[in-house]
Amino acid sequence: MTTESTNDLAREWALEGAENGAVVVAEEQTVGRGRFGRTWVAPGGTGLLFSVIYRHALPRERVLRYTMVGAVSVRAAIATIPGINADDVTLKWANDVHLDGRKVCGILPEAIWEGNALQAVIIGIGINVRVNFAGTDLADKATSIEQHTTHNVDRAQLLANVLETLDVWAARANELSLFLTWRSALSTLGQRVTAVSVSSPGRITMGRAVDVDDDGALLIRDDKGRVHRVISGEVTLQTDSST
Ligand code: BTN
Repeated sequence: MTTESTNDLAREWALEGAENGAVVVAEEQTVGRGRFGRTWVAPGGTGLLFSVIYRHALPRERVLRYTMVGAVSVRAAIATIPGINADDVTLKWANDVHLDGRKVCGILPEAIWEGNALQAVIIGIGINVRVNFAGTDLADKATSIEQHTTHNVDRAQLLANVLETLDVWAARANELSLFLTWRSALSTLGQRVTAVSVSSPGRITMGRAVDVDDDGALLIRDDKGRVHRVISGEVTLQTDSST
């Protein structure tokens, strides 16, 4: 199936009453969306593109927990693919799964609120299975699973594996074990970073990523020793990681 964006279709389904755990999968998207208004491009048959609707009640400040749900589930599924070295599958705060240091999966969680009540969360997931980034701007930043294994990846099987884990973690989204599993896989911690905040547009924080808190925020210590809490944003590693 081709659709504009599985997240948009999942939102329509959610507003029409789709049940907890409903999944929208597409072979190709014509307007695939990434974070920060970017596009997400994967030619037909090269990616795994899907969105899952969850309807567990969580307070507003806990909604980033669904980013953790998506990230740990995708990581677990990729780590068990034959030929993949599990230690090479890491998480980059806030929403990315990396394989051998390059982005292999992006996650786009979107919430539907009615006042302060969470009606549904849509977890949109794009996994690069055999997207060819050679010669593109993303060549040194993005990768595909089949670049790291001689085995063909069965996308249906990979989808089934992610969904199985996703359902388990989504039902435990408020538990400490989810946070600890997520934190232990974060390659961002200990690195010098520049964080661009989304909640306060234009605010840039530079320093060392020292920890995350259990709502999913990144804690950055600047060179004056002050700790800044970044709730939602994008981090880039600073080239000088020696200080
Ligand atoms: C990001 O890294 O910026 C997030 C990318 C999320 C892409 C997926 S593909 C399936 C789902 N539908 C979309 O339009 N986006 C997400």
